[in-house]
Amino acid sequence: MEVLEAIDGRFSQDKLKPDPIPKFIIETLLSAAVQAPNHYKVRPWRFVVLTGKGRERLGDVMAVSFKARQPDLQEEGMEKTRGLPLRAPLLIAVGVDKPNDSRVLEIENICAVAAACENLLLAAHAQGLAAKWRTGDWARDPNVKRFLGFDADQIIVGFFYIGFPEFIPAPIHRPSFHDRTTWIE
Ligand SMILES: Cc1cc2nc3c(=O)[nH]c(=O)nc-3n(C[C@H](O)[C@H](O)[C@H](O)COP(=O)(O)O)c2cc1C
Repeated sequence: MEVLEAIDGRFSQDKLKPDPIPKFIIETLLSAAVQAPNHYKVRPWRFVVLTGKGRERLGDVMAVSFKARQPDLQEEGMEKTRGLPLRAPLLIAVGVDKPNDSRVLEIENICAVAAACENLLLAAHAQGLAAKWRTGDWARDPNVKRFLGFDADQIIVGFFYIGFPEFIPAPIHRPSFHDRTTWIE
């Protein structure tokens, strides 16, 4: 698939088939992600791949953490929370390394990781997969971060919910660049 075709055709999709994603395809996505530009070649991206029961373990952590934040949460709410990571057969949590060199700025590391995330989304699309970039409170939850192996002050830029789409939505017509662009000639 041509790059511009992938960029135009990519779409977010909530409705994903439960079919597992072959490992070689997951590795293709990760390999695309790490081709992103990054300043000082620090490779600031960290990926945590969750499949199968790994997603259930994340759901348990999320439910317990939610209950700690909201003690009056009922079992039904806990169960709903537990089920959140099961919405896709593959989740990839993407975090950012803190700078460990005085030249490196955290914002630049975040930019590099965001670029890696877009590569990941485009590669998923090119492989016939669909995905949804999600954050929400879970990206800032200390218990979730600990479970994933991130430090409390490390940024999670997103959870990528990935799977084969249940259906292909109608093409999206996104607003043009015109009202967001100034030309200095
Ligand atoms: C940093 C970031 C965080 C996002 N977090 C969420 C989220 O938590 N929940 C959600 O429904 N969409 C979230 N989105 C937006 C969707 O992933 C999606 O990009 C948006 O709905 C536009 O749809 P499209 O990708 O088909 O153009 C997030 C996007 C970005 C870039």
